[in-house]
Amino acid sequence: MKLDIALLAGDGIGPEVIDQAVKVCDAIATKYKHEISWKPALTGAAAIDAVGEPYPDETHEVCASADAVLFGAIGHPRFDNDPSAKVRPEQGLLKMRQKLGLFANVRPTFTFPSLIDKSPLKRERIEGTDLIILRELTGGVYFGERGRKDDGNTAFDTMTYTRAEIQRLAKKGFEMAMNRSKRLCCVDKANVLESSRLWRETVQAMEKDYPEVEVSYEFVDAVAMRLVQWPKGYDVIITENLFGDILTDEASVISGSMGLMPSASVGEKTKLYEPIHGSYPQAAGKDIANPLATVLSAAMLFEDFGLQQEADDIRRVVNKSLAEGIVTEDLSEDAKAYKTSEVGDWLAKNV
Ligand code: IPM
Ligand code: MN
Repeated sequence: MKLDIALLAGDGIGPEVIDQAVKVCDAIATKYKHEISWKPALTGAAAIDAVGEPYPDETHEVCASADAVLFGAIGHPRFDNDPSAKVRPEQGLLKMRQKLGLFANVRPTFTFPSLIDKSPLKRERIEGTDLIILRELTGGVYFGERGRKDDGNTAFDTMTYTRAEIQRLAKKGFEMAMNRSKRLCCVDKANVLESSRLWRETVQAMEKDYPEVEVSYEFVDAVAMRLVQWPKGYDVIITENLFGDILTDEASVISGSMGLMPSASVGEKTKLYEPIHGSYPQAAGKDIANPLATVLSAAMLFEDFGLQQEADDIRRVVNKSLAEGIVTEDLSEDAKAYKTSEVGDWLAKNV
């Protein structure tokens, strides 16, 4: 297969983890005789420095005309500590999600056999966890009206959803549940928020189209608790943007490291694959960041193109590296820690 993949390394550890994913993908391409053509483009703080904005039109062109986008991370502390900054790297990520129509973010949570004891949660609670949080990605409070009132002392952000936005996300959730254990949980705050009541009403109305799917409705605060108490109680979770942002960080604790969890953002056309972790600026340039979340995001990419063996191969070598202790310092404990680039080389070689 011929694949044009836009390569958005971004900020912080982005470039380092992306480099490892590229090595692994190139090894897969050689093994299975695919032709991958990488199309690098600027985003985030790197793009602000170069051209003054975090998701330039040229970058959008590259993404929109590619078969898929592989993305590293966005964010720089220089902006975090400056609330008055007019342009922020994160705006690039939001603009990219919106312009590419990436309304659904697929964030799986699973455990790795050799890492179960690295999780702060007890083995019996997490072993066998296999859930997907389907996060709405282009609506809600991230994109609603926001601002300051004239008095300068009042600020507001608005959580807005249309029925159509909820339906298209929920449809993906129902379809995903049909291919899995047929359990779907809609997470909201319908006891307080009007937008949540619209979510609930909309999803309830769709139940009749998927009679085999058992749907439950839970409040987000309760889910925050149950997710770490008994994650095996969940299969497919659908939720709005901000709730999904928070719950997916929480869920990453189950797997043992934030550096492990991949994601795919899907929607109207070009799909985007990215680790769920951020730019981890403290580690940037040190060759210590865990590249596995990005490598596993690449596995999701191959899978979406119907290249199941390729995806399985990547997951197999990742599991092998974990089992053999070829890991970065977040997972090495007392044993030798490998560099980001060494882990990437090892994975590519083992493909
Ligand atoms: C994520 C990140 C982003 C988000 C930030 C960087 C804007 O936390 O992808 O989860 O909040 O969506
Ligand atoms: Mn997040």
